[in-house]
Amino acid sequence: MRRRQVLVVGSGGREHALVQALVASPSVQQVYVSPGNAGMAADAIVLELNWKPRSPDFAMTISKLRELNIDLVVIGPEQALADAVSDALRQQGFLVFGPSAEAAQLEASKIYAKEFMIEAGVPTARHFVVESVAQTMECARHFQPPYVLKADGLAAGKGVLIEKSLEGLREAAERLFEKRELGEAGSRALLEEFSPGWEMSHLIITDGDRHLTLPAAQDHKRLRDADEGPNTGGMGVVAPIALPPNLSERLEREVVLPSLALMRKRGFLFRGVLFIGVMVTESGPSVLEFNVRFGDPETQALLPLLDGDWFEVFDAVARGEFSKKFSWRPDCYTAVVVMAADGYPENVVKGQTIAALDDQGRHSAGRILHAGTARDPQGRWVTSGGRVLNAIGEGQSLNEALQKAYRVVDAVQWPGARVRRDIGAKQI
Ligand code: AMP
Ligand code: GLY
Repeated sequence: MRRRQVLVVGSGGREHALVQALVASPSVQQVYVSPGNAGMAADAIVLELNWKPRSPDFAMTISKLRELNIDLVVIGPEQALADAVSDALRQQGFLVFGPSAEAAQLEASKIYAKEFMIEAGVPTARHFVVESVAQTMECARHFQPPYVLKADGLAAGKGVLIEKSLEGLREAAERLFEKRELGEAGSRALLEEFSPGWEMSHLIITDGDRHLTLPAAQDHKRLRDADEGPNTGGMGVVAPIALPPNLSERLEREVVLPSLALMRKRGFLFRGVLFIGVMVTESGPSVLEFNVRFGDPETQALLPLLDGDWFEVFDAVARGEFSKKFSWRPDCYTAVVVMAADGYPENVVKGQTIAALDDQGRHSAGRILHAGTARDPQGRWVTSGGRVLNAIGEGQSLNEALQKAYRVVDAVQWPGARVRRDIGAKQI
């Protein structure tokens, strides 16, 4: 069989993990990544291409992909999906792992997603749609504190405001509706009842008909240890996590199957990942959000757990022929510890030197993925994004995986790096 040319779209740690998973496939000849980052150059060819299908330069992207004989495109980030990159590529005859823009509304609009969950009968917190400060305060009378206010549109992790008091809620509403801090993304919002519980990331891969459930993962969203500090894109993940009896079965029956059924009824083209953010409450699972892509950093923990070839999975899903049964490696645990920039998430400091990395961006202490790095004119590795590196550990127990990941963290530290020291602690 001819070996394949594969392109990954995106630039973070998630995409670096996807690149490495594809490089490992015997079916793959060459992996390309765009826009990528400097740290991926050791594994893939990094391409600068335009990813806005409405821009005139997008035609050049198509010609380049034709010239390179790209067989499969795997799309990482939600923005590209919301911008209809998958649809534009499919129209040009490419095989794509990533849902249509229509389906991406499940992530791009929280109000759309909420209405979808309700129609599907999926358990989720009670809500009101609000678009002014006065309306927010009026609806808040129906709930107890803390109050959850969610901007409707994509806000790069900044769209959810959780406030302990009515005064705090008023200020949050003013920021969305009057100061317009999130622009159009915050012109409408959901006011939602707070669900107490613990969170998990429930991901499935689907071609719309069949699906494969990934091992359960747990992210750590707050910046500091003990879940304190501001929300971030995610500071670390462990997988698989132990689930209470019946939870998997309830997620399948109450959440996954009705959601897939409604997608089919609406005629969505969904070939990719549905990532369900779940709060496990006393009465069972409650859906916090839908994402239409792999999680970051969940992906970095989940990809090593497959007992098989990721190219085969992505290719089958992209063709709509996902039938083969895939399975997960027994007795294998993974841990990801995010190393973030000084000042993350609010005031990211860029350009700090990461002295410990070798010329390939690696270190003998263990596995590293690059999320936001660049090279300065002298060729030194420097920070260039909020989340900078991911330390990855794998082992036969969660403890072993965590020890390996922290060994890497300790070896590549740079001054000001922000790292949580308690990743996985709740599971141990
Ligand atoms: P989301 O982007 O919707 O996942 O929200 C970001 C974070 O806010 C979640 O990971 C939760 O920690 C928290 N959150 C969102 N909605 C709720 C809710 N209804 N109750 C409690 N916490 C929530
Ligand atoms: N780790 C959370 C996310 O990818 O949205």
